[in-house]
Amino acid sequence: MRMRKKKHGSDRLASLSALICRDPAELRTDPCAPFGASVPLRLEIGCGKGDFICTLSRLEPEYGYYAMEKIDDVLVLAMEKYASGRGLGRLGDHGGWDASDGVNYGGGAVWDIPQELRGNVRFLSGDAATLGELFPPHVFDTIYANFSDPWPKTGYEDRRLTAPGFLKLYADLLVPGGRFLFKTDNENLYRYSLETVAASPLTLTYATEDLHASERAAVNVMTEYERNFSAKGAKIYALEAVAEA
Ligand SMILES: C[S@@+](CC[C@H](N)C(=O)[O-])C[C@H]1O[C@@H](n2cnc3c(N)ncnc32)[C@H](O)[C@@H]1O
Repeated sequence: MRMRKKKHGSDRLASLSALICRDPAELRTDPCAPFGASVPLRLEIGCGKGDFICTLSRLEPEYGYYAMEKIDDVLVLAMEKYASGRGLGRLGDHGGWDASDGVNYGGGAVWDIPQELRGNVRFLSGDAATLGELFPPHVFDTIYANFSDPWPKTGYEDRRLTAPGFLKLYADLLVPGGRFLFKTDNENLYRYSLETVAASPLTLTYATEDLHASERAAVNVMTEYERNFSAKGAKIYALEAVAEA
């Protein structure tokens, strides 16, 4: 995702940084700790501007959600969408975060958001390749990767989020029987992913070349890319693969 540098981006990220998990020691010891309760966990890789995670976390609130994004200027948009959607305030007219406690947090000030207001999404700033260092094995009920970059050029295949190395990582991170759900508008990436899943420790349990015309359309949660692509008439490909029970 190309992004113009956000004005005051690092200050904006700082004001809501209580929602970001940066402590691998804590996550590895107790991945539920940031939620203050023992909850089943889900992970979205490449959350972009956050439409999907904001909607899903409202529809299925019994889970704790981690939303990972490698570009901080994009991550901040997802965090602001989540925070405003939860009634935690809004971006101030002159910068900073106008928080629901009545204070404007700007200039790098951090709002220590009370735990009971933080809700069920936490954010991770970084690359999916580091997930194995952040989390212990067998923690996630579901891992989502939506409209990830196709990396079409030869030599960059390993960066695709359905490359063999990533699928092995997901198999390690999922609980037994846990699901990996993948959506894309890119037919080549979809076909590549069917092949890599078939050769991976995961088992393919569902695949469709037209998600919006499938029996899963009714329960599908749209992402911002998905909305844009399908408005232009693109078909949405999807697959589900499951970790060994
Ligand atoms: C094409 S956008 C799609 C965003 C959103 N998922 C959607 O469907 O609207 C892909 C996003 O994934 C992020 N991303 C790509 N590779 C990643 C990785 N290895 N780790 C974390 N984020 C990644 C990109 O920075 C970008 O924001």
